[in-house]
Amino acid sequence: MLEFTSAGESHGKGLVGIIEGLPAGLAINETEINAELNRRQQGYGRGGRMNIETDTVEILSGVRDGKTLGSPVSFFIANKDHENWQGIMDIGPLASANDRKVTRPRPGHADLAGAIKYNHEDMRNILERASARETAVRTAAGAIFKQLLLQFGIYIYSEVVAIGGLTCKAFRPERESLKKFKELAGKSQIGCTDLGREKEMIKLIDAARQQGESLGGVFELGAIGVTPGLGSHISFDRRLDARLAALLMSIPAIKAVEIGDGAMNAALPGSMVHDEMHYNNEKGIYRTTNRAGGIEGGISNGETILARVHMKPIPTLYKPLQSVNTSLWQEEKATVERSDVCAVPAAAVVGEAMLAYGIAEALMEQLGGDNLMQMQQNYKSYRKYLQKVWQWRKI
Ligand SMILES: Cc1cc2nc3c(=O)[nH]c(=O)nc-3n(C[C@H](O)[C@H](O)[C@H](O)COP(=O)(O)O)c2cc1C
Repeated sequence: MLEFTSAGESHGKGLVGIIEGLPAGLAINETEINAELNRRQQGYGRGGRMNIETDTVEILSGVRDGKTLGSPVSFFIANKDHENWQGIMDIGPLASANDRKVTRPRPGHADLAGAIKYNHEDMRNILERASARETAVRTAAGAIFKQLLLQFGIYIYSEVVAIGGLTCKAFRPERESLKKFKELAGKSQIGCTDLGREKEMIKLIDAARQQGESLGGVFELGAIGVTPGLGSHISFDRRLDARLAALLMSIPAIKAVEIGDGAMNAALPGSMVHDEMHYNNEKGIYRTTNRAGGIEGGISNGETILARVHMKPIPTLYKPLQSVNTSLWQEEKATVERSDVCAVPAAAVVGEAMLAYGIAEALMEQLGGDNLMQMQQNYKSYRKYLQKVWQWRKI
């Protein structure tokens, strides 16, 4: 029902996104989209590219008088850096000698595997699309999905909880503590709420930069206010946990996704893992823990949906690793492209976008509706059902 796709190369003219299936009548706020794009560009540890770009969305279709029409919404984000790549990234025959040819693949990047698969001698033809520049489109689309979710009281957040080996305690906000969370996270250059630990993380990134190294880390994502009933246990491909994990794993450099305390839970006995249920007149059914991350049997259970997402270190190293020159067939050091040292804070923003996509998709499946009013009516009657039949008072 809700489909999103993207196109564009890192140093091409720009990036394009298309979203099909949004309900008609949804107000689209471009300023908020641009604010999200700006968030993706921030975060301590980014490389020089982010000083060149000021990502701004241009909506091309599907919106009129500030609201969606029900037709595909398409949008464009220009690559300012493109002007520095004239003659190299031309659509027609290259106007100048290709002095940016890549033949020394970077371990950990798509260069070699992509070149073999698509038979490209110049691995730039691979890395231009594999580059995480593409995540700008996902962020813009995510900002639109978030605007839809807010209509149903759903708020998406992220927080960085580890850089390299340095961890900090997760804040894990709920609706009541969101304001405090936003204040703290807003002050951080890392997107973590432990500002003391943040200083140490910054030092670690500085040291990595000096040593020509790179760092990964972990961020947590949450969707607050999701009603029970999104996703389904009935078929493997409808399970919400599986769908969200796939979306989050699709972000470049993300190598593991936990739902709730997934990895930690595997080491504990069941009595210390499963979230016990309680009941009283005022609250109805409630829980005091959320180790399952808001999903049981592939279905949202009404608790905050929580994911822990693990990012590997950036593959481009300024002190490059051993590679092979595939023009000369001899061992040489890998190519160095302008690169981030650590992009965990930026990846967390992209994670929010993918989580927003997954939740919006499942919500639309559940509520149906070609226009926002219909969706809202269906939502209202679903909440009534939850309250009347299931005494679901707390949402
Ligand atoms: C926000 C973000 C920024 C990234 N920046 C860089 C970068 O500057 N240099 C780099 O080599 N990889 C960067 N990456 C990671 C690569 O895009 C990724 O490792 C590569 O596409 C190979 O995919 P894989 O790691 O999923 O196998 C970034 C990833 C994200 C999410």
